[in-house]
Amino acid sequence: MIQRWPWPLPALLAWAAAWGSFHAARAVGLSPTAALVLAATTGVVFSLLGSSLPRKLIMALGFPLSWALLLGASGGAALAWAWLLPLGLFLALYPPGSWKDAPLFPTPPDVLNGLRQAAPLPLAGRVLDAGCGLGDGLMALEREYPDVHLVGIERSLPLRLLCALRCRWARVEGGDMWAADWSPYDMVYLFQRPESMARAMEKAARDLRPGAWLVSLEFEAVGWVANVCLQDDDERPVWLYQVPFQAAELPLVDAASQLASTSSAGAGRPNR
Ligand SMILES: C[S@@+](CC[C@H](N)C(=O)[O-])C[C@H]1O[C@@H](n2cnc3c(N)ncnc32)[C@H](O)[C@@H]1O
Repeated sequence: MIQRWPWPLPALLAWAAAWGSFHAARAVGLSPTAALVLAATTGVVFSLLGSSLPRKLIMALGFPLSWALLLGASGGAALAWAWLLPLGLFLALYPPGSWKDAPLFPTPPDVLNGLRQAAPLPLAGRVLDAGCGLGDGLMALEREYPDVHLVGIERSLPLRLLCALRCRWARVEGGDMWAADWSPYDMVYLFQRPESMARAMEKAARDLRPGAWLVSLEFEAVGWVANVCLQDDDERPVWLYQVPFQAAELPLVDAASQLASTSSAGAGRPNR
C-alpha cells in the first residue's frame, strides 16, 4: 500500500506518474491543454493515497508546480485555467467538510469475513456504511449479510455516484454521516480515522437502540470495551461494539490520578 511507503516515495511516484502521463499524452498527439489536465488529474488521483492532507497537497501540486517552473515560464500562461479542473476534481473527491474524516481508502474484500457469526442481525435488518466511498465496504457487508438492507452515505458527489453504480442493490445517499440519523440501523459500519472514533461512539450511543452494533475497521474506540475483535493473520482488525457500550476500566494507578485531577472539575468518562 502506497500510504505505508516511506515518505517521500509516494510523492515521487505521484509526480512521476503525472509527468509520465503528460509526456505520453503529448506523444499520442493530445494538445498541451489536454495533456496538462490529464497529468494534473493523474497527480490528484495519486494524491488521494497520501497519508495526510499536507502530503496529499504535495503529491497533487508537485506536477503543476514543476510544470510551471519548467514549461509554464516559456509561454504557458494561457493554460493556467486548466489547473482549475484538477483542483475542482480534488475538491469534489475530497470536499473540505470531510478533511477531518478519512479520505478514500477502500475496505479490503475479505476483511469482514466472520462478521455475521460474531454479530448476527435480524432478517431484513438495516446496515449503514457511514462514509461509503466507492462501495467496497458495502460489497464486503453484502457478502456477509446478503439478506439485509444496505445503505451507504457519502459526502463526495463523484464517489457517491460511482458507488451507486457499483452497488445497485444498496441505497446510496449523499450527505454528512454525522448529520444523518443512525437510529433506524441495526449496524453502522465505519472505516474512518482514529480521531473519528470518540465522536462515532458518542453518536452511536445516542442514536442506536440496544442490541445494535457499531463496527469499525482498523480503528479501536479507545476507552471502550469491544465485544469482539476479528483479525486474520495479516488483515486489519475489525472492532465490534454493541449498544449499550461498556466503558473500559481504568488501571488502579490511573484511576487514582484521574480522580485527583477531576475531583474539582467534575468527573468525566474514564479513558483506558
Ligand atoms: C476510508 S473511506 C471508506 C470507504 C468505504 N466505507 C469502504 O470502507 O470502502 C472513508 C470515506 O468516508 C467519506 N467521508 C468522510 N467524511 C464523511 C462525512 N462526514 N460524511 C459522509 N462521508 C464522509 C470519505 O469521502 C471517504 O469516501
